[in-house]
Amino acid sequence: MNQVHHIRHPLVQHKLTLMRRKDASTNTFRHLLNELSALMAYEITRDMPVQDIEIETPLETTTGQVIDGKKLVLVSILRAGTGILDGMLSVVPGARVGHVGLYRDPKTLQAVEYYFKMPSNMEERDAILVDPMLATGNSAVAAIDKVKALKPRSIKFCCLLTCPEGIATVHKSHPDVPIYTAAIDRCLNDHGYILPGLGDAGDRIFGTS
Ligand code: URA
Repeated sequence: MNQVHHIRHPLVQHKLTLMRRKDASTNTFRHLLNELSALMAYEITRDMPVQDIEIETPLETTTGQVIDGKKLVLVSILRAGTGILDGMLSVVPGARVGHVGLYRDPKTLQAVEYYFKMPSNMEERDAILVDPMLATGNSAVAAIDKVKALKPRSIKFCCLLTCPEGIATVHKSHPDVPIYTAAIDRCLNDHGYILPGLGDAGDRIFGTS
């Protein structure tokens, strides 16, 4: 499990618990997801490369470090991944954004692709795939397959919640891709939902059902 980064920070856990509650409104859910995504971005970008630059303070010249936000690509797995983007972009506003459109066939639970759009020069970039729920892992594997084919410098996967089944599926196909998550829940139910989970993340973000 050393490729799984379980983010246990009290602020992350507190916000996640509020989001899980079935009586959280769409507005509350979205707001908490924004805040949580920014906190998770802080953790995920911990090892991002920085470069030294010389700057002038009001008093003297000094050397500081900056990151190149443009090298970072946030890849949203549609549609629920969109809910994570704003929060992450609030802390890395220079990041590029890619989209992978996948839906889960309700019968087979397999991922079916309908959209794929990524920034150019992926081989120079670090990709962070975002999807609130890593459940069966089928969509995650399909999305990672597509992004990996573009040979980015690195790939990470970020979700709010996952479960042992989802982690195992991703690790079987992509043992080199670290997973960042705020919780590892008990299991999947027969419909591929995470238990105890938080329900359908897309529906809760967009107020659909
Ligand atoms: N997708 C969701 O939105 N929720 C789950 O529990 C599993 C997959």
